[in-house]
Amino acid sequence: MENSEEQQKYRVRKLEISDKGKGFIELLQQLSVCDSVSDKEFEDRFRDLDVLGDDHVIGVIEDEASGKIIATGSVFIEKKFLRNCGKVGHIEDVVVDSSIRGKHLGKRIIKFLTEHARSMGCYKVILDCSVENKAFYEKCGFQQKSVQMAMYFP
Ligand SMILES: CC(C)(COP(=O)(O)OP(=O)(O)OC[C@H]1O[C@@H](n2cnc3c(N)ncnc32)[C@H](O)[C@@H]1OP(=O)(O)O)[C@@H](O)C(=O)NCCC(=O)NCCS
Repeated sequence: MENSEEQQKYRVRKLEISDKGKGFIELLQQLSVCDSVSDKEFEDRFRDLDVLGDDHVIGVIEDEASGKIIATGSVFIEKKFLRNCGKVGHIEDVVVDSSIRGKHLGKRIIKFLTEHARSMGCYKVILDCSVENKAFYEKCGFQQKSVQMAMYFP
């Protein structure tokens, strides 16, 4: 069980515009292709997402000691006609800095995102992951369902 000091130290908060200077993009680069993003591009995208308010939330954990962003993940709230105009949370872009994996920060990020989806009235929250990460998401309370399909545009 983590003590309250650790909980405070590794608190999840929403992304802030100053997080670009704290290694947020470099962290995302550990996940997938992410070319360098200029300050202007970052600010424009940040504002695009900010307008969506609680329908698009990016959570981060900042290491207070180094001032670096060490974990992140996002959740997008989809509004449907199905299920009595229900809502579904989609989790994306979950990554923990490679130097600090295995310390339950990933779990903490997922808890933050799933609780946000629940608080928004979603009837489920879903995500895609690699086979290697299946056990991690099971530990976070997810179950495998159906098959992921993708089409990439050149
Ligand atoms: C996947 C990832 C986010 C997990 O974050 P993490 O902070 O290392 O994971 P946690 O410490 O919170 O792990 C929670 C539990 O899952 C287990 N776990 C974590 N990764 C696992 C894996 N790949 N296989 C099996 N179990 C795993 C942990 O042992 C822990 O178990 P416990 O609760 O019994 O102690 C992190 O490894 C990562 O960033 N990987 C690279 C990017 C990536 O693949 N992101 C996911 C995109 S779908």
